[in-house]
Amino acid sequence: MLDKQVVSEGKIQRRLARLDDADHPLAGQIMGSEPEVMARAAAVLARMGFDVIDLNFACPVRKVVARKRGGFLMSEPERVLDIVRAVREAAPGRPVTLKLRRAFRETDKTREAFWRIGRGAFELGAAALAVHTRSVDQKYAGPDDREFLARVKREFSGRTIIGSGDILQPADALRMLDETGVDGVLAARGAIGNPWFFRQVRDLAEGREVHQPTLEEQGRTIRRHYELACETYGLKRASLYMRNFGIRYARMHPHPGQARQACLAIKNEKEWRSFLAEWYGTSVGEPS
Ligand SMILES: Cc1cc2nc3c(=O)[nH]c(=O)nc-3n(C[C@H](O)[C@H](O)[C@H](O)COP(=O)(O)O)c2cc1C
Repeated sequence: MLDKQVVSEGKIQRRLARLDDADHPLAGQIMGSEPEVMARAAAVLARMGFDVIDLNFACPVRKVVARKRGGFLMSEPERVLDIVRAVREAAPGRPVTLKLRRAFRETDKTREAFWRIGRGAFELGAAALAVHTRSVDQKYAGPDDREFLARVKREFSGRTIIGSGDILQPADALRMLDETGVDGVLAARGAIGNPWFFRQVRDLAEGREVHQPTLEEQGRTIRRHYELACETYGLKRASLYMRNFGIRYARMHPHPGQARQACLAIKNEKEWRSFLAEWYGTSVGEPS
């Protein structure tokens, strides 16, 4: 979330106020460039009951970088550390974590920035670093750098390091833990349309058969996701927004190509109900 949106009273604050008890421990992530605004946003999150404050210095989206937020700050280590200091003071008692990329660009100067940020952040009391091992200008292209991640863990051996990058299948999570020695891994794209991902990783780690959701279970989950999207965004916006997720869920459907095509054609709430009934045998209640 943008720090500015978190501090202004409005839609985002109303959404944040609806935290579910079952979701704790919960981290709230903020992104911005001014230490003072980031600190105020962190204080709002702490007041609302977020257990951990996470700071985003990794986002590679062009608009974000152009506004000198997110991944751009991998090129400004002193500003990052000013933000960490201000946030720590504003949210005492809450662990503060950082999401980083390996570098801003592939130049020596910005590579050094990573180590300056890492060391400085831990000195200031940061609880953990989550590291996506591509540079910001790589976005999602090219290989992620596992050797770099292993080195980060060696350099900060007593600290908590979380790895990120290309955890697309459950087995990828265990492989990253094994290859790099990091303390945890962060799954992103692999879990979009597969919220069973985390359970599947645990199944693998504990030597059980990997859970494969039945069609009925998939339908129930998509329906719940859709209902929550409606509550959050309203019927009209949710119907279009949810198509992006529907096509990801469709990858698990016994007829993935056809389910995907049918999902892409959905335009409104009525068509969502027909889609879920026809492709998953799931009924959606009338909106109240
Ligand atoms: C659609 C999308 C949205 C993302 N949003 C965020 C975000 O808000 N904050 C963040 O720290 N990372 C975000 N990421 C980056 C992921 O946390 C992760 O570092 C990156 O996707 C690499 O992991 P993966 O290869 O397993 O997807 C996002 C990634 C995707 C694909």
